[in-house]
Amino acid sequence: MADNINIDWILKRRSIRKYKNKRISDEEIETVLKAAMYAPSAVNRQPWHYIVIDDKSIFNKFMEIHPHSTFLKDASHAILICGDEKLHHGDGYWIVDCAAATENMLLAAHHIGLGACWIGIHPREDRKKLIKELFQLPAHVHAFAMVSLGYPATTYDLPERFKPERIHKNTWSKK
Ligand SMILES: Cc1cc2nc3c(=O)[nH]c(=O)nc-3n(C[C@H](O)[C@H](O)[C@H](O)COP(=O)(O)O)c2cc1C
Repeated sequence: MADNINIDWILKRRSIRKYKNKRISDEEIETVLKAAMYAPSAVNRQPWHYIVIDDKSIFNKFMEIHPHSTFLKDASHAILICGDEKLHHGDGYWIVDCAAATENMLLAAHHIGLGACWIGIHPREDRKKLIKELFQLPAHVHAFAMVSLGYPATTYDLPERFKPERIHKNTWSKK
């Protein structure tokens, strides 16, 4: 890779689950939401909604539903990414669109010095149902994922992930 092309802001992102006791600014939250809304989506339908959460009592209820989200207790904020079946292209495209938006949020958060972690909701129907009730979502709106946010309170490794053997040229068998 050419030395002058720097993609460290992608390569150095990791899931952050430990946060400082410091509140994120409204401006930073808006930056993360803006990144989400600039994600690609099928036929540019942008079929998403975002619920910004800073209420600890909601974090507590969410943690009771979701077993892998205990670190929310220290987060400044979290954002619930929701897909709207009335807005999407059909055939379940809201799922792919929301995934693109979620990744944009993680990258933007990292780029501005925040720590973030994707908390999976879709495709677990049991979790989706309970989370839909918790956030009082309309029938046509589905919870996709939660992203926790805070100032990082941890250091982390950056193991090599580039695997040339996973790259195929023209067809599967040609190397
Ligand atoms: C679909 C999806 C669901 C995830 N769900 C959770 C989760 O519920 N709790 C959690 O702590 N991390 C969750 N993660 C984060 C992954 O554990 C993490 O991305 C993975 O271990 C790679 O580490 P990295 O993000 O630091 O590169 C999820 C990630 C994805 C893409």
